Amino acid sequence: METHIHKINPWKIIEVGWNRNKIKGSESIFSIGNGAMGQRANFEEDFSGKSLQGSYIGGIYYPDKTKVGWWKNGYPEYFAKVINAPNWIGISILIDSIPLDLNKVNRVEKFERILDMKKGLYERAFSIKMKDDLEVEIKSKRFISMKKKSVGAISFKIRCNRDVKISLSPYIGFDVSNDDSNWDEKFWETKEKINTQNKSLVKSKVKKTGFKVITYMKANLYDNNVKLEKPFKAKSNSKKILLESEQILKRGHTLKVVKFGGYVTSECNEWNKIENKTTKILNYLENASFEDLYREHTLEWAKIWEQSDIKISGDNKSQQAIRFNIFQLNQTYRGDNPNLNFGPKGFTGEKYGGSTYWDTEAYCIPFCLGTKPPKVTLNLLNYRYLQLDKAIDNAKKLGFENGAALFPMVTMNGEECHNEWEITFEEIHRNNAIAFAIFNYTRYTGDLKYLVDKGLEVLVGISRFWAQRVSYSEKKNKYVILGVTGPNEYENNINNNWYTNYSTKWCLKFTLDSINICKKNNANSFKELSKKLKIKKYELDLWLKISKNIYLNKDEELGVFVQQDGFFDKDLKEVDKLDYSQRPLNQNWSWDRILRSPYIKQADVLQGIYFFEDKFDTKSIKKNYEFYEKFTVHESSLSPCIHSIIACKLGKIESAYDLFKRASRLDLDDYNKEVEEGLHITSMAGSWLTIVEGFAGMRVRNNSLHFTPRLPKKWKSLLFKINFRGNIYTIKFNQSVFQCSLNFNQDCFIYVNKKRLTFDNNRKTHTSI
Ligand code: BGC
Repeated sequence: METHIHKINPWKIIEVGWNRNKIKGSESIFSIGNGAMGQRANFEEDFSGKSLQGSYIGGIYYPDKTKVGWWKNGYPEYFAKVINAPNWIGISILIDSIPLDLNKVNRVEKFERILDMKKGLYERAFSIKMKDDLEVEIKSKRFISMKKKSVGAISFKIRCNRDVKISLSPYIGFDVSNDDSNWDEKFWETKEKINTQNKSLVKSKVKKTGFKVITYMKANLYDNNVKLEKPFKAKSNSKKILLESEQILKRGHTLKVVKFGGYVTSECNEWNKIENKTTKILNYLENASFEDLYREHTLEWAKIWEQSDIKISGDNKSQQAIRFNIFQLNQTYRGDNPNLNFGPKGFTGEKYGGSTYWDTEAYCIPFCLGTKPPKVTLNLLNYRYLQLDKAIDNAKKLGFENGAALFPMVTMNGEECHNEWEITFEEIHRNNAIAFAIFNYTRYTGDLKYLVDKGLEVLVGISRFWAQRVSYSEKKNKYVILGVTGPNEYENNINNNWYTNYSTKWCLKFTLDSINICKKNNANSFKELSKKLKIKKYELDLWLKISKNIYLNKDEELGVFVQQDGFFDKDLKEVDKLDYSQRPLNQNWSWDRILRSPYIKQADVLQGIYFFEDKFDTKSIKKNYEFYEKFTVHESSLSPCIHSIIACKLGKIESAYDLFKRASRLDLDDYNKEVEEGLHITSMAGSWLTIVEGFAGMRVRNNSLHFTPRLPKKWKSLLFKINFRGNIYTIKFNQSVFQCSLNFNQDCFIYVNKKRLTFDNNRKTHTSI
């Protein structure tokens, strides 16, 4: 039986059928996590087939020495890798002395996995036929507690159709390595193993960075729900510590292992503190039940869904997809720790190393603003603020001075840790996404004090960078920006990338406007800040001059902004005319061919139009959209959502819907043929944006929410909540009526299709659309 289907269900991802070639993809899809730790959906029992073992801990990384063909000055020394951590989920099983390994059994009769997104539960059930007509049925459940950040729990049940001898060993495997290690090194050193009846733990230290982590486990065994007393013998070898037990499992009886495990780290990184914390957890788990932990875990999920669920009626495929995206985002980042961030792969894979990309500012922050209290976004902004000194050092290494800051493209701790020259040195547009996030936060929350408290320091560092990075072209009598890579990574070392130039123009002006706001609102604090940063008048004049005179190329005939110098010299054959077998291009074409082609990996000019929409008229937006969409291959997960939002604005709802499906089901339907490597977490925020900013057309203007609702034909209605200025706005609309209700204060208004609506005494309003 070798099929593979993810069934459509509004709250669940269901896989039915056994397909050993799809295991790695499903390991990504069924990943679970709680913001502090997470893991791929590896099997508990041994599996000798193709698999990517992966369990990860937030903020724990290894600086893997850079590997490049030819060293270039300025390269970062290392590429930070999110480390594959010791495996606490393992349970080795022998049935009548034969290892339980789905890759080796004669017949898999039934195989099913369910990810219940409402409750955060991953379940698996299968039955197999072994020799002599032995039938074995396994049912496992697993979750990582949203309430207790160091605790994960497994319930693993076995039943057989005759009496058998079962040997069963819950274990911690510490002989782990990263698939993407540059030098095939191990990243961990095992410092100590303790394995007794009551205490099983492994102390590991990350090489070079010195992070200390304790991996622990606790297991109980039950025969037909009767707990067995002291069933395990503690053993260990050079790769594992294990708790071994041999039992006769009677026909029709159920043998159940309940295993708890996880990681304990501590901010102060001292072994005794970490061990005390672990001992407390183990003592607590002595009397804890899977069910009680599960109950409190589901209550946490209920709170998350209460605020962030989106209900789409009329289209279960989209419903499932948007919930999957929201679910994974919440598993990746909880917003309670300014040292953590959204990694592009979250806890679902190793690729991309590092943790923080411009994805956070461009995609994840709007999601957090809409679904979480403002302090969550503040943590993400402060993450960059706390790394400003490193951004200044980073710029210094590249030859910039006077406090110029270049934030890293990829980072774990503020240091740049990506080492492809075209990305490290050239993808400098990331600086502007960080400035944009500060703007977005202040626009959304109205908290202008943030500027003088922290935001302005970041903006000044970034503006100082641009003032030195631009060149003045005598010939053009304009400032130009040379040798960059824009968001579209299928073009390297280009000149005058429209997006980079435009966002720089905007960024310099925003910095100047922010200075004026601070001068006006917080004169004293601004004076102090100005002294601290040594802001000089001539700098401000220069920023204004650059902002006003930056080169922005437009093809007047076509009415489109030119992606970069020379773009129109390319062979402009549209994507539709390409043989589909060539896609994705990055898996089929040489890099040289990609660079010469007009094909666009992800929104580039359109990314700028998306950010700065109010600066362009609809006619111009339409021309640019219609032109660039024809050349965009959307081979970055970050792309279709932006095109979809713009398509909505232009009233191209069905195209927007197709793009939404691609954005939201990217991993579920594996559009880019890479789900095995992990999920595209940060772009999942883009799916949320497509619903809220696209189909609901939400914008924040002059301290109020504006909506331009338009649903795809297939959707009967859409419902979501927005956390805005102390109120929760519940938005619901169908093809003809728009409704909004508030939970606190009705003393505000919203705009729907430009019409101003006030709220009645029940804090409700509605209008026909
Ligand atoms: C995209 C970048 C993005 C990175 C991480 C790349 O494929 O081109 O824009 O930051 O993935 O998501």
